[in-house]
Amino acid sequence: MSKNKSKRKISRRAFLERTGAAFAVATAAPTIEAQRPSVNPPTSALDTTSVPRTTIRVTVNGQERRLEVEDRWTLVELLRDHLELTGTKIGCDRGECGACTVLLDGKPVYSCSNLAVWADGRSVQTVEGLARGDRLDPLQRAFIEHDGPQCGFCTSGQLMSAKGLVTRNPHPTAEDVRAALTGNLCRCSNYNRYVEAVLAAVGTQQAAERTPRNGTGGAR
Ligand code: FES
Ligand code: FES
Repeated sequence: MSKNKSKRKISRRAFLERTGAAFAVATAAPTIEAQRPSVNPPTSALDTTSVPRTTIRVTVNGQERRLEVEDRWTLVELLRDHLELTGTKIGCDRGECGACTVLLDGKPVYSCSNLAVWADGRSVQTVEGLARGDRLDPLQRAFIEHDGPQCGFCTSGQLMSAKGLVTRNPHPTAEDVRAALTGNLCRCSNYNRYVEAVLAAVGTQQAAERTPRNGTGGAR
């Protein structure tokens, strides 16, 4: 190899190394830049002292509580994030799926669509309030026996809607149960098992057996 050719080769390698390094810097720089916040968050966004707060009295699962809540908190935020009652689930967070259903003064409500301050002076029951110690509520036992929960994400909401129903109507028909669970979506589509379970829990097993398992009669 001639001296000139060798020189050219070394030069090209050096050139490639230099341009490669420059390319790496050029392409990495925006990534690093993108990871940095472009502006500091406004201090007002971090400052929660200016957010209005209200002291409420609410009975949660039979226990009277005095709580200071931010006026903007939803009931499900209060339950999950501040009282650690995480049995109540958040599916859509906009009043569509029913995963967040709790009982407010015995009536099923979407806790994602109610402000915590609205619970002032009222009684809230969550899925954690169903069992008595180690003794499951008959609805919980029936849900297990009838394979209601599949992934289980909708189950606490289904239970609370069912609890609201059987409290006001101890002898519901299959149609009543379907109507009561109509606001609770189940992505695993196990509607008929849930209906069977509720009917079994209230002692109307015969009616449960008449409910088709895979027909079109599931609660929607
Ligand atoms: S999370 Fe409340 S209705 Fe879906
Ligand atoms: S059991 Fe999975 S969403 Fe209902």
